[in-house]
Amino acid sequence: MPVKHLVITLDGPAGAGKSTVAKALAKRLGISYLDTGAMYRALTLKALRLNMDLSDEEALTELARRTRIDFKEMPDGSLNVTLDGEDVSMEIRTIEVTNNTHYAAKTPGVRSLMVAWQRAIGLARSVVTDGRDQGTVVFTDARYKFYVDADVEERVGRRYRELIAAGKQVDLEQLRADMKDRDQKDFNRAVGPLKKAPDAVTVDSTGLTVEGTVDKIMRLIQL
Ligand code: C5P
Repeated sequence: MPVKHLVITLDGPAGAGKSTVAKALAKRLGISYLDTGAMYRALTLKALRLNMDLSDEEALTELARRTRIDFKEMPDGSLNVTLDGEDVSMEIRTIEVTNNTHYAAKTPGVRSLMVAWQRAIGLARSVVTDGRDQGTVVFTDARYKFYVDADVEERVGRRYRELIAAGKQVDLEQLRADMKDRDQKDFNRAVGPLKKAPDAVTVDSTGLTVEGTVDKIMRLIQL
């Protein structure tokens, strides 16, 4: 289905199914999927490797300025994140990176660089983009904006199954506490907090499969 330049934003809390839905939606539309969380994760990975003090906002911003975060197109059309040219799409999924990404996410200097990079990508190609601030800050003029949400227990369960399937050892109670903590931090930071854009449509994915959620969104899109 040929489409003119198109930006679709999906914001929402962790585990709501945004990334799987965004990927499947992008595939159906034949456009790219932009995983903005992967960018904050990649910078966090670099800072952790360097043993930096992640709470030092100036140092983290300086690090971001000296870092190249990009995406490499894979044969299946998906985009793998690269950190200074290295494919780190697996390394950024560890619990350590997940639980430390909030430092980069709350640093204003880092956010403004990320926003600029994301806009440049979205200008160059049609994208389904997922994150926390895509409809509210990065692509305020996006043609379609969605806020993807799900019941917290369902979000915890999904993340648990994902990690188990990836061969990781997970403590369910700890995962639940970490997710609630991450939600609080995402909702409450001063810059780019998670919130629904006034013109976004809420899609509740509770009890829906990925394909079911994509169908729901596709019905709301007119190309
Ligand atoms: O989406 P994902 O869970 O991979 O994002 C990891 C973290 O990056 C989130 O918890 C959030 O703090 C941050 N993030 C952000 N803005 C975005 C995407 C992600 O602050 N646009």
